[in-house]
Amino acid sequence: MKSMKVGLLGLGVVGGGTWNVLRRNAQEITRRAGRQIEVVCVAVRDVAKARARIGEDVCITDDPYEIVNDPNIDIVVELIGGITTAKALVMLAIENGKHVVTANKALLATHGTEIFEAASAKGVMVAFEGAVAGGIPIIKAIREGLTANRIEWVAGIINGTTNYILTEMRSRGLSFEQALAQAQHLGYAEADPTADVQGIDAAQKLTLLASMAFGIPVQLSRAYVEGITELNAVDIAQAEQLGYRIKLLGITRRRAEGIELRVHPTLVPANSILANVEDAMNAVLVSGDAVGQTLYYGKGAGEEPTASAVVADLVDVTRLHTADPGHRVPHLAFQPESVVDIPVLPIDEVRCAYYLRLSVNDQPGVLAEIAKELSNAGISIGSMVQQPPDQGEASLTFLTHQALEKNINQAMLAIEALPFMRSKITRLRVEEF
Ligand code: NDP
Ligand code: HSE
Repeated sequence: MKSMKVGLLGLGVVGGGTWNVLRRNAQEITRRAGRQIEVVCVAVRDVAKARARIGEDVCITDDPYEIVNDPNIDIVVELIGGITTAKALVMLAIENGKHVVTANKALLATHGTEIFEAASAKGVMVAFEGAVAGGIPIIKAIREGLTANRIEWVAGIINGTTNYILTEMRSRGLSFEQALAQAQHLGYAEADPTADVQGIDAAQKLTLLASMAFGIPVQLSRAYVEGITELNAVDIAQAEQLGYRIKLLGITRRRAEGIELRVHPTLVPANSILANVEDAMNAVLVSGDAVGQTLYYGKGAGEEPTASAVVADLVDVTRLHTADPGHRVPHLAFQPESVVDIPVLPIDEVRCAYYLRLSVNDQPGVLAEIAKELSNAGISIGSMVQQPPDQGEASLTFLTHQALEKNINQAMLAIEALPFMRSKITRLRVEEF
């Protein structure tokens, strides 16, 4: 049977890994796909560098449009990253009737709706397993394996860089800056790690997961995003003492009022599964009404783990290439006409437990006044610890029961106005799945 002809845009970390895996496992992949998957041309910026890496027997160009416009190519694999050029190339590939495989979460979280609509209209597939949690087949699990379920929530560690930083800060007492420098040195963090540490990368991935879990449009702009740059080592240590660990979680939950869609540092019980996902590993918990909780764990980034996902997409596309487009698995798990724009709740309407750390003057009546303000806002205290006072200053940490975020905000405003407060309150969210 004629081979599937692939044009590879990018031969960096993921593109290089994809090339290696396709070569090394060619026989096994052909047995699974039913025909050979053949990379016929590669686009890069630096042709000489690519030539030195992959040799002479494949075309290499510095013009990615050559690939996208090549009538012999069946599948375009976009692994150059970024948004502007990647979008233009993907849209043109679709327009030219080619299937697309991409690991570009930034592109899909921003322009997914337009891209998937164009692909559906043209009857081509856009596959993106590598875009979320690298090598973990979470897209396939939600889109296909859990399709019987009404999914209730998805929560996960979906950024390896920040998980590595938090692990180092907790286990070795490193500062944020030291842990980040180490992550960069080890190649986990990007040269510009802004999207990682500010939670944007996780929010892009979460947005795609939410869309597939609940059948809602891809809407990154409605996600609440808080990264780990403001996280204090004191709170990591304090959480540990209270039996918790702090993880950067992406959480999306269906509630009667709408969908929660949020990324932020979160206290989780130290003996829970997510608390024990360490270093640069990723893990995603999915709760469905029929199956209960399921867990997906593995490497969320890197050359061959991400290539594993990209090649799985190539096999899927190859298998379904000749299927009637109307009978293929929908891009975002739900049939496009069944996607419903359920409102995404603002962070004020989110409900969870809270960790509040306060620095106060060590004097009589302080606790009573704080408890009164919490009570006025309808917030119930779960527990409280006080660190031994130091030079007249006491550190109080409260764990609340579940509360609405807007009520916590109201209490914080009132408490911060009290005369014995030494600084602003540190507030973190707490989840027990
Ligand atoms: P790299 O920066 O390592 O590689 C990018 C590649 O694209 C390079 O080969 C580069 O060429 C090429 N390239 C960039 N711009 C152009 C252009 N205009 N024309 C032709 N070639 C171009 O990126 P990654 O492999 O790390 O990431 C690729 C995608 O995969 C991104 O969307 C990323 O978010 C996603 N991803 C990455 C993961 C990872 O672990 N790195 C994990 C999951 C997803 P040259 O080498 O000549 O500069
Ligand atoms: N920068 C991402 C991470 C890798 O640290 O998880 C790809 O998604």
